[in-house]
Parts: sequence; C-alpha cells; structure tokens
Amino acid sequence: MIVYISTDGMHTTMSVRRCLCSRHTFVWLLVFHATALGVLLLMLFDRLTSSPTNPYHKAAFERWMNIRDNFDVYQKEQIQQDEMMKHKVQWRQMDAVMSFNDINKDPHNTAEEFTALQKRIKEEERRMDEAVKSANVPLDYIPPVPEFSEIDIVPYLASNITNKYLRLPKSLKGKKSFKKEIVILTPVCDVAHLIENFVKALANLSYPHEKMSVYFGEDSSTDETYSAVLLAAQELKSKHGFRDAAVFRFNVSGGVHGSWDDIHAKGNQLLRRSHLAKARNMLLKESLSKTHPDYVLWIDSDVKTLPDNLIQHLLYAKSDVVVPSCLFIQGRFKKFYDRNSWRETPTSIEDQAELPKDVLLVEGYSHSTRIFLPDLKAEGRVVHLDGVGGCVLMVRTECHRKGLVFTEEVYEHHIETEGLGKMANNMGFSVNGLPWVEVFHN
Ligand SMILES: *[C@@H]1O[C@H](CO)[C@@H](O)[C@H](O)[C@H]1NC(C)=O
Ligand SMILES: *[C@@H]1O[C@H](CO)[C@@H](O)[C@H](O)[C@H]1NC(C)=O
Ligand SMILES: *[C@@H]1O[C@H](CO)[C@@H](O)[C@H](O)[C@H]1NC(C)=O
Repeated sequence: MIVYISTDGMHTTMSVRRCLCSRHTFVWLLVFHATALGVLLLMLFDRLTSSPTNPYHKAAFERWMNIRDNFDVYQKEQIQQDEMMKHKVQWRQMDAVMSFNDINKDPHNTAEEFTALQKRIKEEERRMDEAVKSANVPLDYIPPVPEFSEIDIVPYLASNITNKYLRLPKSLKGKKSFKKEIVILTPVCDVAHLIENFVKALANLSYPHEKMSVYFGEDSSTDETYSAVLLAAQELKSKHGFRDAAVFRFNVSGGVHGSWDDIHAKGNQLLRRSHLAKARNMLLKESLSKTHPDYVLWIDSDVKTLPDNLIQHLLYAKSDVVVPSCLFIQGRFKKFYDRNSWRETPTSIEDQAELPKDVLLVEGYSHSTRIFLPDLKAEGRVVHLDGVGGCVLMVRTECHRKGLVFTEEVYEHHIETEGLGKMANNMGFSVNGLPWVEVFHN
C-alpha cells in the first residue's frame, strides 16, 4: 500500500491506493537499501581513516608510513644506494676507457691482415733503427710522415736542416713588433720542488716580459706548492719584470693523487683528466675576468726547458690553437712526452665510427693508429692537428670568449686538452702544431 500526500495551497489531501506488490517485496527492498547504505558508509569510513584502496596508492602510502616511522634507517639506505650508483657509473666509465689496441683486438685475423701487420712491423723496425742511429749521426734528410706513429723515439736531424725550419722572419725578431699581450696559465698541484726551475724557464723567454702575465692555479696540494708559487709570482713580477703574476687557489675535488703509476693507470684517466679540465677551466675563467690578453698560453709546471723564442714561434703559426712538440730525453734518445698532440688517420677515424658515445680513448697505452706531432716534420713548419696536449698550448683568447673550453666530459671520445682540440676544429678554429719547435719535459 502506498500513501500519496499532495499539498496544494491550504488543503492537504491524502489518497490511499492499494498497492500491486506484496508486503514481502517491501521488506526485501528495505533490506537492500539498508545494505547499500551500509556499504557506502563503510567505504567512506575506510577512505577517511585508513590507507587508500587503489593498490598503487596503497603501496606509496605504506612506503611513506615506513619512511616516517624509520627515518634513520631510510636515510642510511638512501646514502648507501647513492654510493652504489656513483660507483656503478664510475665503473661503467672506467670500462669505457680504451686504447686503440683494445678496439683492434680481433680474434679472426685474416691472412691478408696478417701480411699487412708484418709489413707494418718491418717498417717500424726500419724507423726504429734509423732513430737509434741518429743519436750518433743525425739524419741529413727529413724522415717521411709514417702511416702511424708507433716509434716513440724522435730522430735527431742535421743542424743545417733544423736551422732552416726554425728561422724566424724579421717581423718576429725586432722588439718593436711584439705587440701581443700574453697570459701564461699554469695549474699546479704537489710540485713544490719544480717551481724554481719553472721560474728559470719563464725568465729565460725572450718575449718582452712586460707583455706577459703569469697566473698559477693551485689545486688541492698536500706539499708546500702554495707558498712556493706565491714566492714565484713575487719573483716574476719584481725581479723578472713580468707585467703581473698571481696565484689563484682552488680545491677541485676528484683529482687522482699518488705515484706516477697511479696517476697514469689507464683506468684513472677519465677521473684524472676530467679533474684537470675543471681545474684549467676555473683558472681560465678567473684569469679572463682579470685581464684581456690576446693569447692564453698554457705551460705545465714540470717542463724542463723552453726555447727562449718559444712565444715568437707560437705567434709565427698565426693559429687559433697551437702547440709545439713536447719531448723528453731518455739516455741518448729524444722521445715523445706529450701524446695528446696528434692527427687522425683514416684508420683511427674508422676505429671510432662504431664506438659507443661515452667511450674515452686514451693514447700511449698501446699501438696507435694516429700520427703524433713530431712525426709530421716532412709536412713543414705549421701542420694541422686534431688533438692537442697541454704541456705547452697557446689559444687565441677570442676562441675562449666564443665558448671554447677544456671538455670536462667525454667529447667525441676525448677529454680535456684533446677534447678542446676536437671542439676547436668543430667550431672552425685553426688547430696546428709546430713539429720543429721542441720543448723538453722533466
Ligand atoms: C745539409 O748539409 C748536408 C751536408 O753536410 C747536405 O748534404 C744537405 O743537402 C744539407 N741540407 C740542407 C737542407 O741544406
Ligand atoms: C680541500 O678539500 C678537502 C676535502 O674536500 C679538505 O680536506 C681540504 O682541507 C681542502 N683544502 C683547502 C686548502 O681548502
Ligand atoms: C733558455 O734558452 C736557451 C736558448 O733557447 C735554451 O737552450 C735553454 O734550455 C733555456 N733554458 C731553460 C731553463 O729553459
């Protein structure tokens, strides 16, 4: 039975109609509605008081509760995870350090390749003989440019030849012609014992000292380097008449310290050179905010001797980026020191074509498929290069102002000065070497 109540104005009428459905159905409807309301209330209650019911949200919610209740444990775990990740990335990068020998490891050498290899070895032996003999009787001819630089001995040449290739034009001889302002930048770390000789080598330069400033970038030394370079800067200014000299102090973390073996281990190269690049870029930025030279000249603190007319030779190249040969003397022989000044060959380019982007290539750990600067003498006085080293490196300041830097990350398989060489070439700057001009390292 359903009761209808209708209100119209003042009168209320009530009509009672006999229902078609039974009392039984009514009870069921009542039960159904009551249950539905109950479920709804329960759901609402659940939402308000406990975790979200969506499994994804629920997991997130529980994680958050855990973090809240065990914050110390969570923090410790997080630190551990970060450390692991750092190491993983480092290991990956270490694995990515390669030399050309690693690339060329091919278990399926064909007979043809074997013959080519034998020919190459024969040619190496011939060049080695020639280089060794030249220590007693200098060659009276210029050796042709080899296919690859594999012999690290640099032959001595007769002085009538070297003199011819080292002659400077009149325009670079007169003192009046020296107009360019040069800033010499030298990163130093744990080299206190070398500073005295370094000052001697700089003082020996015949370029007018009043046109040159010297800035040292001291970084994380554990010996007396800082006080040694402070003294050196004083001396360069007051005794040797350099225009300015100062020391900037940095503390770039992540350097590789230790013995020669540690520093030069292949696996350490990425870390070490990335750190060097950072230190160089910092010194560069600091110096260029202070002065406006025409050229920035990088000289390593561990050079032994510099030709007195080094800067005139570097200016002679009229290049945006230029390096001399950097060698060292071992017994009777002159040998490559800086293996970062090189030219690519078709083989070395092919070797790199398929490499994953983050692989860093390092020279000096096996056979090379490139040509190093000292082997390019037959091409003349100023030769094109792809990679440059930092032993002695001059860069037109304008290039730095246009964005050229020492690459801190792997850039086309190279880093630091070699990365700079690659980047300079890509930016359209001239990158050259002076194979006849020799600087000697300790
Ligand atoms: C250097 O001198 C030798 C003889 O001592 C001579 O045979 C050679 O042609 C000279 N080379 C040059 C480039 O003048
Ligand atoms: C350089 O940093 C290290 C750790 O980051 C610190 O131990 C050292 O004292 C710092 N050196 C200087 C000179 O600030
Ligand atoms: C000084 O210059 C001369 C001439 O170039 C050179 O032979 C000598 O090795 C230089 N000394 C140093 C310490 O660089």
